[in-house]
Amino acid sequence: MTRAALFDLKAYTAAARQRVDIALEKRLADLASTPPRLAEAMAYAVLGDGKRVRPILAMASFEAVGGHGDAILPVAGALELIHAYSLVHDDLPAMDDDDYRRGRPTCHKAYDEATAVLVGDGLQTLAFSWLAEAPLGADTRVALVRELAGASGPWGMVGGQMADMAAASGPRDLDHLRFIHAHKTGALLTASARMGAIAGGADGAALAALTEYGRHVGLAFQVVDDILDVTADSATLGKTAGKDQDQNKLTYPALIGLERAREMAAGLAAAAHQSLAAFGDRAEPLRALASYVVERGK
Ligand code: IPE
Ligand code: IPE
Ligand code: MG
Ligand code: MG
Ligand code: MG
Repeated sequence: MTRAALFDLKAYTAAARQRVDIALEKRLADLASTPPRLAEAMAYAVLGDGKRVRPILAMASFEAVGGHGDAILPVAGALELIHAYSLVHDDLPAMDDDDYRRGRPTCHKAYDEATAVLVGDGLQTLAFSWLAEAPLGADTRVALVRELAGASGPWGMVGGQMADMAAASGPRDLDHLRFIHAHKTGALLTASARMGAIAGGADGAALAALTEYGRHVGLAFQVVDDILDVTADSATLGKTAGKDQDQNKLTYPALIGLERAREMAAGLAAAAHQSLAAFGDRAEPLRALASYVVERGK
């Protein structure tokens, strides 16, 4: 049996998730002078039943380079706030127009569209203020703010979302699809691995390896999300299945078919494992996370 097979990912993610959820609840409860409806809707969007993949990835990366303690929690929490904001806006009628998310009505359905726009805006700025206050050195905090801005802004997630929207009526080729997925989803997952490493004081070689790892896992994650949109049911996903085809989205199953998409995801997981070759047992959680991302799509 491989080491990865012996590692208990369920127990690891449950414990990591509990730590980040407590930090998120505390940060969201502490919104003095915020209109109560906005504060409530922000908490609704963040604290639903998501997988917390980005914070867990950041925590695992932090530990892989020898980081320990709670300084990672604002970093992990900020990543989840940006992710939750991206989901709230992604679900708006002007974008994917989705009614269900994380097993319950989307933010604009539970509240209204204006509130959902403001929830996204509020979560984004809350993420940066939390990061700026993290108990880490000033240089480290600046580096982390740059990472998160780069990954979530027009150079990353927002740029990818724009390309995703335009692609429904644009050229349908693999290079363009890779650009979309690497940006709309891959960038924040890569940043999760990188930010955990930066917070943990990684040297250049470790940071480079974890960047490669993040790129592979990040792309695999969206390939699998595309696969599940075709193969899973809405109850399992907690969001409406089959939407990508309805909306003529440019996805891997649409372009290369389910089987090749699955092969591609498996190849990306193998490449992610390869990126961790120089790491020892401390990277077991990262290895298991890469395998988990791809197993979901099988
Ligand atoms: C969904 O992300 C959107 C994508 C970027 C694919 P997740 O699958 O991580 O959603 P939650 O956080 O678990 O709800
Ligand atoms: C979402 O991609 C990417 C971001 C939210 C940045 P999708 O549109 O495929 O995500 P789901 O399927 O709605 O979760
Ligand atoms: Mg979308
Ligand atoms: Mg969507
Ligand atoms: Mg999707």
